[in-house]
Amino acid sequence: MERFPEGINVDEARVPAYTLPDPLLLSDGAPVTDAPTWVERRRPEILQLFERHVYGRAPGVPEEMTFQVVSADDLALDGRATRKEVSVRFAGRGAEAEMSVLLYLPNDRAGPVPAFVGLNFGGNHTIHPDPGITVTGQWVRNNADLGVTNNRATEATRGASASRWAVEQILQRGYALATIYCGDLDPDYDDGFQNGVHSMFYGEGQTRPAADEWGTIGAWAWGLSRAMDYLERDVDIDHGRVAVMGHSRLGKTALWAGATDPRFAIVISNDSGCGGAALSRREFGETVKVINAVFPHWFCANFAAYGDRVDELPVDQHMLIALVAPRPVYVASAEGDLWADPRGEFLSALGADPVYRLLGTDGLAADEMPGPNQPVVSTIGYHIRPGQHDVTAYDWARYLDFADHHFGER
Ligand code: GCU
Repeated sequence: MERFPEGINVDEARVPAYTLPDPLLLSDGAPVTDAPTWVERRRPEILQLFERHVYGRAPGVPEEMTFQVVSADDLALDGRATRKEVSVRFAGRGAEAEMSVLLYLPNDRAGPVPAFVGLNFGGNHTIHPDPGITVTGQWVRNNADLGVTNNRATEATRGASASRWAVEQILQRGYALATIYCGDLDPDYDDGFQNGVHSMFYGEGQTRPAADEWGTIGAWAWGLSRAMDYLERDVDIDHGRVAVMGHSRLGKTALWAGATDPRFAIVISNDSGCGGAALSRREFGETVKVINAVFPHWFCANFAAYGDRVDELPVDQHMLIALVAPRPVYVASAEGDLWADPRGEFLSALGADPVYRLLGTDGLAADEMPGPNQPVVSTIGYHIRPGQHDVTAYDWARYLDFADHHFGER
């Protein structure tokens, strides 16, 4: 049995009684009974609440942004794929940043293809052993097993996360894959927001984001939107059919990106847990208090104040999923991933159902949590699979089926 820190509950019988805020009640108490009231009034209210209390406000495009294809190989992966690396450079207020978008396109294509886009944890070169991918020069987390000791990636980490990226499967099914190292946008440690993209937007005399301004997840989601800015310009991409996907902390990020940027046509959360799909009020597995203590940089500063009073949060995570409506959204859990609260992830998807139905979709076609490997395919998708906190070929097969279902058979 996995051991959890002191005070962490993983016993369903000890989940506290709670009442979720109603996504279909306006802040003045009036019910939302039609789609225009949702779109024009309630959705903006909820978005603002998440900005103010959870993820922080993010800026739009920077003063300067350029795109440059720095490498292209149309004979990648044994001739089955075209690989491109696109450097996206940003500048503003005297500061600069750059992110590298790694893009694979299936060579077996007749025109623009739909795509999956997602951030990766360790550098683009970790997603596949392909020797043509540039090894990131950014800060990376040390890993003694792989010989990363001075926060710089080595050749040994090439393909290290390949099991989490079903590149061949994605390409075979007719989709492109775009991925970016999250550390290009903001390295994943608490440095008071000196590195990363934040400082490009500081006002006169400002040295860190205000309490309701973006943290690291906000910056990562912002980067996904900038990747979308690129994908919109790439003639090989069917940019009306781009799915954003992320695992764990990057699944939290995918949900926030999908909530804030309607250009993402499908939004996929893989084991995103606390601050992602899981309901905060259940306090099962990781809690708001713990996540803010261990990862103080992920959310806006205001979120930390809710550690001991999650009941006072004006939102819960079902409302984050509702912000994606009526676009298809998929929530996935793993049985062994109690830290991320699988049931809380399911209940969040279920809690968004009334909004999806109000907007004329079939919502989530399940009232009860399904058993393992019984995916629910409706506008809200859900599955739980056996196994641990991870992204597997099974997860990707479900996302591809879901995308086929909503984008039309490939
Ligand atoms: C930690 C953290 C989670 C996060 C996970 C991950 O376990 O507590 O919130 O989702 O890391 O990103 O893998």
